[in-house]
Amino acid sequence: MNKQEIEKYIAETMAHFRKIDKESTEKDFKWQEDYIRKHLYKKYNIGGVSMELIKSISYDQQEIINNILKLYNKGQPIDFDPCYNVGGFYRNGVVTAPSIKSDIKPLLPEVLQRDVRYLPYINEFQCIMFDPPFLAGGGSSGKMALRYGTFGSVEELQAFYYSAFISLQRALKNKGLLIVKCQDFVHGRKNYIMSNYVLNMARDFNFKVEDLFILLAKTRPTYHIKTQQHARKYHSYFIVLRKKEA
Ligand SMILES: C[S@@+](CC[C@H](N)C(=O)[O-])C[C@H]1O[C@@H](n2cnc3c(N)ncnc32)[C@H](O)[C@@H]1O
Repeated sequence: MNKQEIEKYIAETMAHFRKIDKESTEKDFKWQEDYIRKHLYKKYNIGGVSMELIKSISYDQQEIINNILKLYNKGQPIDFDPCYNVGGFYRNGVVTAPSIKSDIKPLLPEVLQRDVRYLPYINEFQCIMFDPPFLAGGGSSGKMALRYGTFGSVEELQAFYYSAFISLQRALKNKGLLIVKCQDFVHGRKNYIMSNYVLNMARDFNFKVEDLFILLAKTRPTYHIKTQQHARKYHSYFIVLRKKEA
């Protein structure tokens, strides 16, 4: 069998499994698929191709997070999530939940009440996940604003990021990893490239930029606008930063 035939065989086999097996999860199917591929590639001597090639884009944020941990955190879990909300990243245990969780407005009993800007930790964590609110100036009554919080203006949002970075850098161990989820947005007809803001700030704070992953949106609502000025954004980022030794 050549590579093309193997991939065709795997696609057909997995389609069959998905039809008859209603117990397994997507994670199980992915594991089965990787397993079959690994063995067939080995059997037919298909070399030079990595079976589990990690890509910079995905529709699945859990896949991105696990890949970040695999590449940059020796496969070890996240230690601390200071903007935990309901822990969407760790749903169904696909990504191991951090041992310490906090939020300014905890929604679950195991979540500590802490402001990420004033954390009481120094050189404590090897890996922190930072997923702050990403809305600014759009009012505080919308669904997303109520669920995740919002800022009065873009300047407030940027000031928040700045203070949080000081606190997070202090909380990280040397060479510790900071994973930042952020997204660019349009506000008042102006494009705000928050990813660029975070990258610049990270360098100012003496972080090494290790990588950048793009999460593609699964749902793409349509909007009716008369004159479009900027590209509609259907993605967000996971930026991977390493604290440099002081
Ligand atoms: C985008 S949500 C996080 C969603 C979460 N990653 C999940 O998947 O469920 C942002 C969270 O940051 C929290 N937050 C806002 N301001 C904060 C602050 N100053 N300190 C800590 N958490 C804050 C909000 O309460 C909200 O739960």
